[in-house]
Amino acid sequence: MSEPFKIGVAGLGTVGAGLVALLQKNHDVIAARAGRPIEIIAVSARDKNKNRGVNLSAYAWADRPEGLLSHEIDCIVELVGGEKGAAFDLVSSALDQKKHVVTANKAMLAHHGMVLAEKAEGNGVALAYEAAVAGGIPIIKAIREGLAGNRISRLYGILNGTCNYILTEMRETGRAYDDVLAEAQRLGYAEADPSFDVDGIDAAHKLCLLTALAFGVQPDFDSLQAKGISTVTAVDISFASELGYKIKLLCMAEQSGDKVLQSVEPRLVRAEGPVGSVEGVLNAVYAQGDFVGPVVAEGPGAGAGPTASAVMADIIDLARGNIRPVFGVPARDLQKASPADIAEKTSRFYLRLNVLDVPGVIADVSAVLRDEKISIETLTQRGRAPGQAVDVVMVTHEVNCAAMERALEHLNALEVMQDKP
Ligand code: NAP
Ligand code: HSE
Repeated sequence: MSEPFKIGVAGLGTVGAGLVALLQKNHDVIAARAGRPIEIIAVSARDKNKNRGVNLSAYAWADRPEGLLSHEIDCIVELVGGEKGAAFDLVSSALDQKKHVVTANKAMLAHHGMVLAEKAEGNGVALAYEAAVAGGIPIIKAIREGLAGNRISRLYGILNGTCNYILTEMRETGRAYDDVLAEAQRLGYAEADPSFDVDGIDAAHKLCLLTALAFGVQPDFDSLQAKGISTVTAVDISFASELGYKIKLLCMAEQSGDKVLQSVEPRLVRAEGPVGSVEGVLNAVYAQGDFVGPVVAEGPGAGAGPTASAVMADIIDLARGNIRPVFGVPARDLQKASPADIAEKTSRFYLRLNVLDVPGVIADVSAVLRDEKISIETLTQRGRAPGQAVDVVMVTHEVNCAAMERALEHLNALEVMQDKP
C-alpha cells in the first residue's frame, strides 16, 4: 500500500466532526479513489473534553491549531472559521511551512484570498476550498475545471442555505423568522455569528470567490454591497405568493468589458421557475458559458454531511497530487476588475410601504414615483385601518435603479411613512 496522506484537522464543530465521521465510515472507497489511505494524525479544537459524537482516541490532540504543525503531516484542514484570528494564523503558517491547506472558510478567503493564494502558489502547495462555496455542490471544481474552456459571462444563484431555509419555512409553515433561524442554527447550517447569514455577508463572501474563478479577477469583497433577508417580513412573503412569486436571496455576477457587477439581495423570482423551486437548505448556481451554454448545479448548501463531502473531495485531490492555481489562473495574473455601477442598471421592483391610512397618501406616494418616472404595474392595499398604519405593496415596471434609490429616499421622508420602505 502507498504512503498514507497525512492530515491535521483544526476545528471539530459541525464540519470538522462531520469530516471525521465521513472518513471513518468511507475510508476504503476514499483510499481507493485517492490511491492511498487518508490518515488523520492530529486534531485540534478549543475544548478537549467536549463530546463530538465521533471517536477521536486514535488521533493526537493539539491545544492550539498551530500545534498541529509540529506533527508530521502533508496537509492542514482548517475548519475553525473566522476571517482572521486562529484560522488565518494557522493557514498562513501552514503555507509558509509548505503544507497543503484545505479550508471551508469563505470569510477568510474573501478578505485575504489574494495574499494566501500568492503564498500557496509561491511555495508550490495547494489552497483548496471546495466546501467554502455552496456546501456539498462541487461548484469550484465545476467552474475551475469542468467549464475551463468557456468564457463565462454571467452567474447567479442561491448561495446561503440558512436564508433559503428560513424563507422556505416562513412561507410554507407560517413560522416566525426567529424560530426558524434558531432551528437553522441547531441543524448546523448557520455561521457562528448568524448575522453573517441573514445580512447577506456569507453569500457575498461566496459570490466574490465564484466571481474570481469565473472571470479571472481578484476577489473583491469590499466592492460588493450585500443586502440580506432580515428586513423581509411575513407580509412580503405572503404578498409575493399572491403575485405568483417567491422571495429568494439571490447572488448575481456579470462581466462586461473590464467591469464586474456583483449583487446580493432578496429578489422575487417566479414561484414555478427554476430558482423558485430551489427550496430549504438547497443551493443552486447557474453559469452561462459561451460554448457550453447555461449550466445548473444544485444540492445541499450547508450542514455536516454535505460540507464534509466537499472537504473530502479536496483532500482526495491533493492526495492524488492534483494541485491547481487557487483561482483557476495564477494569482499574479488575476486582473483587478472595476466594479460596474449598479445605477446604470434597470430592474422591476417590489415596494412595500408601511403608511398611515389617511386620505391623500397614495397621491403623495404617486407624486414621488412620477417625479422619478417610475411606473407602477400593480398596487395592493390589504385591509383598511383609518388613521393607523397599513401595508401598501407595489410592483413597478422596469425602472432605472438609481431613480429607485432616489425615490426610496423621498418616500422615506414622507410624513405618512411609518417604517423604512
Ligand atoms: P463550528 O461548528 O462553530 O465549529 C468551529 C470549530 O472550531 C469548533 O470545534 C471550535 O472548537 C473550533 N474553534 C473555534 N475557535 C477556535 C479557536 N480560536 N481555536 C481553536 N479552535 C477553535 O463551525 P462549523 O459550522 O463547523 O464551520 C467551520 C467552518 O466551515 C467555517 O469557516 C464555516 O464558515 C465553514 N462552513 C460551514 C458550513 C456549515 O454548514 N456549518 C458549510 C460550509 C462552510 P470547540 O468545538 O471546542 O468550541
Ligand atoms: N452558513 C452557511 C449557509 C453555511 O447557511 O449557507 C454554508 O456555507
